[in-house]
Amino acid sequence: MSKNSSEIDTNFDSDEELLAEFGDLWDAAEGLWDRYQDAPAFERYVSADFLEVARLLVKLREQAFVFLEWGSGLGVTTIMASRLGFEAYGIEADGTLVEHSEELADAYGPKARFVQGSFIPDEFEWRPADHDEVNRTVIDLPAGYAELDMELRDFDLIYAYPWPNEHTLYHSIIRQFARSDALLLSYDAREGTEIVTFGND
Ligand SMILES: C[S@@+](CC[C@H](N)C(=O)[O-])C[C@H]1O[C@@H](n2cnc3c(N)ncnc32)[C@H](O)[C@@H]1O
Repeated sequence: MSKNSSEIDTNFDSDEELLAEFGDLWDAAEGLWDRYQDAPAFERYVSADFLEVARLLVKLREQAFVFLEWGSGLGVTTIMASRLGFEAYGIEADGTLVEHSEELADAYGPKARFVQGSFIPDEFEWRPADHDEVNRTVIDLPAGYAELDMELRDFDLIYAYPWPNEHTLYHSIIRQFARSDALLLSYDAREGTEIVTFGND
């Protein structure tokens, strides 16, 4: 569960250094998108701005060690997190996307681990009063945590790309199941990235 210091010695002071580190991975993911974007597996997939997310991961690696990507898609962010020294996992609803992410991991970050399932714990209590709106997140799939032999509270950094009206739902899940000191790195196409803390709610 601890970070491997030999993996995090590199400093990334510039976007050019991040591009040099991860450019091949980003290109490979873009190639998969170009080829398969019309396939049903990609129906709910939109990629984040990987450079922007990578910048934040670099900053967070002194504060967090065990990383989970909710809805890992092609797995790019989980693979980046793994290469930056996090113990990194991705849970993705679509099995074909999990296969693509495992292929990318084989080539670009073999320690990253992916499972098919839902990031929503099976015991999650839906509370309409909390305004837990759903847009495109899958809600009828068993959770993926058991296959990882982990629980949500085992992770200290969770990364997610919710649809705009789903931020409240994602926060509710974290409040119910994550550690109080867990960090949420949240990407939004309009707002960019933010780091959300929950300890003092
Ligand atoms: C907006 S994409 C984000 C992809 C990637 N995380 C990124 O930031 O580039 C959302 C992903 O979440 C997946 N997804 C939707 N609902 C899910 C659920 N309940 N559990 C796991 N994955 C889910 C979709 O299949 C899709 O790949």
